[in-house]
Amino acid sequence: MRRLTLRQFRVFEAVARNLSFSRAAAELHLSQPAVSMQVKGIEAILGLPLTEQMGKKIYLTDAGREVLHASQAITARLDDLQANLAQLRGLDCGRLNIAVTTTVSAVATGILARFRGRYPRVAIHLDVSNRESVLGQLALNRIDLAIMGQVPEGLDLDATRFMDNPLVVIAPPEHALARKKKAAIRDLASEPFLVREAGSGTRGAMERFFADKGLALTTSMEMSSNEAIKQAVQAGLGLGILSLQTLEQELELKRLAVLKVEGFPIMRHWYVVHRTDKRLSPMAQAFKNFVLVQAGKAGAKPHD
Ligand code: PGA
Repeated sequence: MRRLTLRQFRVFEAVARNLSFSRAAAELHLSQPAVSMQVKGIEAILGLPLTEQMGKKIYLTDAGREVLHASQAITARLDDLQANLAQLRGLDCGRLNIAVTTTVSAVATGILARFRGRYPRVAIHLDVSNRESVLGQLALNRIDLAIMGQVPEGLDLDATRFMDNPLVVIAPPEHALARKKKAAIRDLASEPFLVREAGSGTRGAMERFFADKGLALTTSMEMSSNEAIKQAVQAGLGLGILSLQTLEQELELKRLAVLKVEGFPIMRHWYVVHRTDKRLSPMAQAFKNFVLVQAGKAGAKPHD
């Protein structure tokens, strides 16, 4: 049995849409006899006429309408297939441009490593800097997605919360406050603190906490790295307030102690963020979903 071809469907569709052999020929850049030949080919296979001519006009027969209907469905199916394959291509070897804040970088690289296990050919560019810098990159539309602490109100950003980020007070294990079952907040007032640089979200949260409690914050030194703060605290240069997620090794090796202070931990949260007007690439969308699924927060609401 001879089969209908896609080419015949395409040509007939143009004829049926234009209700004219000559207009279909012009649209398809074919000669009119070539168009008639394709249509005759279908008619020969089906054994039914697809068009009928009345005066100068042509009309579709019932069989013609059936064939048009089928060819439209086939074309839509092919378009879908092409879009799906393009999406798969995007996921197979796409690029991902991400910025994360310093404090979330260990959590973020863990997620990225698992994501890469799923999409081994993705090219990832990861920028690690502080909160202010990440917000700047979002404002300049330089990145697909960011992972960071809560974003300020009033910016056109879509932020979905996916994980807790508790901030704790750290001290050398031999510090007097480390022996206390529960230290009072005012015990902190007489202690010097090592603080992150201006523009750090951790620094902002720490300052807000002290201000809310009406407590003066004595800073002994300012540093632009959580690692440097941990080392300085170990060296006895003061106390620090850092995310518990950055302290795993030091606590395990008992190089630092988490103080039990009233009002702590300061509970912050991590968000996956992008501009509201950003059309996420298939890869960026896949990464966002991956972050939320990993955290068991798929379907979480923005600013939740
Ligand atoms: P940062 O991170 O202190 O490293 O800036 C915290 C945040 O994202 O708010």
